Amino acid sequence: MPHRHDGAARSPRATVIDRAHDLSTRLDGARAAGLTVGVVPTMGALHQGHLSLVRRAADDCDVVVVTVFVNPLQFGPGEDLDIYPRDLDADIEAAGRGGADLVFAPSVAEMYPEADAGDVRLDCRPLAELSDVFEGASRPGHFAGVATVVARLLRIAGPCRAYFGEKDWQQVLVVRRLVDALALPVDVVACPTVRDADGLACSSRNARLSPDERAAALSLSGALSGAAALATAGEGDPTVIRRHLVEAVAREPLVRLDYAAVVTAHDLTPARSLAGEVRLLLAATVGATRLIDNVGLTSEPAMAPTATVGPEHERRSA
Ligand code: PAJ
Repeated sequence: MPHRHDGAARSPRATVIDRAHDLSTRLDGARAAGLTVGVVPTMGALHQGHLSLVRRAADDCDVVVVTVFVNPLQFGPGEDLDIYPRDLDADIEAAGRGGADLVFAPSVAEMYPEADAGDVRLDCRPLAELSDVFEGASRPGHFAGVATVVARLLRIAGPCRAYFGEKDWQQVLVVRRLVDALALPVDVVACPTVRDADGLACSSRNARLSPDERAAALSLSGALSGAAALATAGEGDPTVIRRHLVEAVAREPLVRLDYAAVVTAHDLTPARSLAGEVRLLLAATVGATRLIDNVGLTSEPAMAPTATVGPEHERRSA
């Protein structure tokens, strides 16, 4: 029976598990009792974006586990692994309030018992195609790290639904192909991006922006909504849409563009027209903080802010 998440039916504090074997045993037991399992992988510092996934999982599934693990394999040298925000107590509290029953918070040694053994290789063509572009090009090795940890987490969890955010559009595609390639018994559910009221996509990294940088960061969502509006108004040329993205971001001196792209949503190849499912992707550095954002041209209305989370704002997407 799917959960209510109004707090009445469940304890606000989730049970913490730090051993993989304990999680597997617990979830095997739940499935044996006929319960469905939902898994929400995160790196912690939970915000409204994460919590929208937790609530969705709690609506869909009987037992919900939020994983909290800052995965060193997906950070490159010089990236923000050491300063990545960590607050497990706050995460346990937030996950419980969102409707999670369990928080899996393993140590690095628990997740990776043997140094560099068993990394998921992404050199099969369908995965490599997706993993070497955009975030993969800017962050070499990033998706190999993501794939490795997601594969391990999902193997530990066993048959389940796993919830990921469209905020990381490329990651959703990589995870879907990974699940197919490894034939994991997992149903991947993609959930829409949650934004602050002014349009900025929620991110753990937003906390690092100074007030000026936060104001400047709005140029990303602003550029995406402007470009989407252009398309809605009839502009059909992907080059014009991309130029709008580049110029809108360039107007903001605190923001340095990494990439702006107009792509086919399901495989990230350059969009030749705006017919079909098209995604606009942006990555930029604001001060010292790297941010990404994206929006769909045909699958959602142009950037209506989804500031308030709750089931009425969430929907499943393909
Ligand atoms: P993290 O950045 O913590 O994000 C965890 C999940 O929350 C991801 O699926 C991400 O897409 C989703 N998310 C983040 N911000 C969101 C927002 N504003 N709206 C909706 N969903 C949002 O992504 C990772 O961690 C890691 O790569 C992980 C998959 C856990 C593997 O380590």
